[in-house]
Amino acid sequence: MSLLEILEFPDPRLRKKAVPVDQVDDKLRQTIDDMFETMYAASGIGLAATQVNIQKRFLVIDLADDEEEHNPLVFINPEITVLDPEPYRHEEGCLSVPGYFEFVERPRKVLVKALNKAGEPFEIEAEGLLAVCVQHEIDHLNGKLFVDYLSVLKRQRIKSKLEKEHKQKASV
Ligand code: NI
Repeated sequence: MSLLEILEFPDPRLRKKAVPVDQVDDKLRQTIDDMFETMYAASGIGLAATQVNIQKRFLVIDLADDEEEHNPLVFINPEITVLDPEPYRHEEGCLSVPGYFEFVERPRKVLVKALNKAGEPFEIEAEGLLAVCVQHEIDHLNGKLFVDYLSVLKRQRIKSKLEKEHKQKASV
């Protein structure tokens, strides 16, 4: 397994729309394992392929509290239906927007249909943190980031701060 580079806002590659996965094979499973390793190393709870510069529709999530006891969830070609549009407000963060946490409202309950790591279809009703996380990650596959839900002013502020950090890193 190997750690992958996570793209950071405002990298334009985070804006690309991912295309469906046409084959769930060992190569894809290897990438999925690498994504879990990358996500755990960065203490994240979700990671979409777009964030590691792969424009394919799949994502990984693990909401387990205990770091020793993983609960890896894989969603390939996920499709989402809103079951309860009532807004649910939750503080979100993102490995592509490191260091920033802001409240975002999303539909409270969703149905997600996807393929698992074996390529088999499954569906899951998600609410609470899982609903937030799945919607956040599917947004990534569509080139959307949680900062897009914030005010222009807030988004600009985060953008300039991160750009400054990226410049500082590049000059070291
Ligand atoms: Ni994210």
